[in-house]
Amino acid sequence: MSAEQQRRQIRSFVLRDGRITVAQQTALDRLWPIYGLNDHGLTQEKPVMDAASGPLSPRESRREAESLRLLERVGVREFNSRDKRLDAAAVFGHGNKGRSNLVPPLPLGEGRGEGAPALILEIGFGNGDSLLQQAAATPEKNFIGIEVHRPGVGHCLLGIERLALTNLRLYRADAIEVLERCIPDQSLDGVQLFFPDPWPKSRHHKRRIVNARFVELVARKLKPGGTFHAATDWENYAQHMLEVLNACTSLVNAAEGEMPYVDSQALRPATKFEQRGQRLGHGVWDLLYRSVA
Ligand SMILES: C[S@@+](CC[C@H](N)C(=O)[O-])C[C@H]1O[C@@H](n2cnc3c(N)ncnc32)[C@H](O)[C@@H]1O
Repeated sequence: MSAEQQRRQIRSFVLRDGRITVAQQTALDRLWPIYGLNDHGLTQEKPVMDAASGPLSPRESRREAESLRLLERVGVREFNSRDKRLDAAAVFGHGNKGRSNLVPPLPLGEGRGEGAPALILEIGFGNGDSLLQQAAATPEKNFIGIEVHRPGVGHCLLGIERLALTNLRLYRADAIEVLERCIPDQSLDGVQLFFPDPWPKSRHHKRRIVNARFVELVARKLKPGGTFHAATDWENYAQHMLEVLNACTSLVNAAEGEMPYVDSQALRPATKFEQRGQRLGHGVWDLLYRSVA
């Protein structure tokens, strides 16, 4: 395996089984075929290796083995086809008769060109409550959520059904793979990343999802003028994000004023993870960058 391949397999998450309720499992069985997107062109997930820091500790090895078993069980797989690009117009009903008989199409412009609804992608939506709120509040936009945590996906599916949303679809997979293999370049109006795992120990920093490669990938997927909005409750991670984002020549900081951060309340609902952090007295740092490609 090449060094590049090894680096690619360090993931920003470790899957834990967690408790899944009967309702969430039923939602996965019943609603995934309607609202789920990673149901095509798949091969088996390859083992997760942690090559950047040498051998794993016994505890980390147990975790990775557990991750692999879970990956197999939940069906998070590697996308192997370059043809499996997301076609937003088809997915959200424009011209896709297969899906639109299940989910009514949005009464908006055709295709993804001029007049097409804005397309917003959220990475790591957790239980999806804030994403559901956004989708319900802005039906003129389309949303794609990506999450690996099965109970969270089940919870979000239940919300989509309860709110009768037609503008939200989900991937249950590693966001890096989805971005690389499924999302066309310059196709997104916004990418959201709220409270990614901070991986606070320095030996785990290599797992942080925000790094130079990730930022270049996101920048490539944004339309000119599109935005990347990130939030964290770890000041050290916020500073790291600023450094990496400022180094990307096709993005500019959209914050006005002296501070490099933006006001979260004006831009998004509070997330579940954020509310928990606030109860513990954590701060919040929101970063907004615009594509100038
Ligand atoms: C700390 S939680 C925050 C969840 C949510 N954004 C919130 O604020 O309540 C981070 C989430 O990101 C997800 N995650 C981490 N890396 C991911 C990846 N590469 N692809 C998809 N989801 C990921 C985790 O499963 C977890 O649910």
